[in-house]
Amino acid sequence: MTGHLTVVTHPLVQHKLTLMREAATPTAVFRQLLKEISQLLAYEITRELPMTTRTIETPLAPMQAPVLAGKKLALVSILRAGNGLLDGVLELIPSARVGFIGLYRDPETLQPVQYYCKVPADLEDRLVILLDPMLATGNSTARAVELLKERGANRIRFLCLLAAPEGVARMAAAHPDVPIVTAAVDERLNGHGYIVPGLGDAGDRMFGTK
Ligand code: URA
Repeated sequence: MTGHLTVVTHPLVQHKLTLMREAATPTAVFRQLLKEISQLLAYEITRELPMTTRTIETPLAPMQAPVLAGKKLALVSILRAGNGLLDGVLELIPSARVGFIGLYRDPETLQPVQYYCKVPADLEDRLVILLDPMLATGNSTARAVELLKERGANRIRFLCLLAAPEGVARMAAAHPDVPIVTAAVDERLNGHGYIVPGLGDAGDRMFGTK
């Protein structure tokens, strides 16, 4: 990837994101839209994957055909909202290895607290795509990247749906080596750490918990 931040301005992404932002959008529609956008964002984040060739036989002739090079990708979801992106991306890259990082945000300090971490082996040999729909303060994302690096990951990309300028700045400072792909960068965070105008609590909206 070139550059730290890529905003995917494709009309389909932007249209779907608008539908997701609307408070009246029902849970099932929200989840479906998130899955669809996740695939369009995954297209962008995998654009420069290394390729090799292998010999195949078409019905007419042998040929050297392009295939992905190297070990299987690792997709790592930050629980629980990351799972809304995971389903769609995994459908596109079905052989990817999958990991989960459980972090919740302390409502007082807004600092991430880890409660779960299970990630694939050999992270040092894999491209890792970290998934979380909302890059808000950047604290959880930065912590998750730290955990991945502690486990050997050295090629990490972060895929999110929406970002706040504060989160982008935090990641640029803490992990300038981790490119971010998102559908939009909104205005700001409010006093509770929510992205404004945003779409509300992504987990609640996708799982109908509020
Ligand atoms: N997490 C969310 O789900 N929404 C926000 O606006 C910020 C963090």
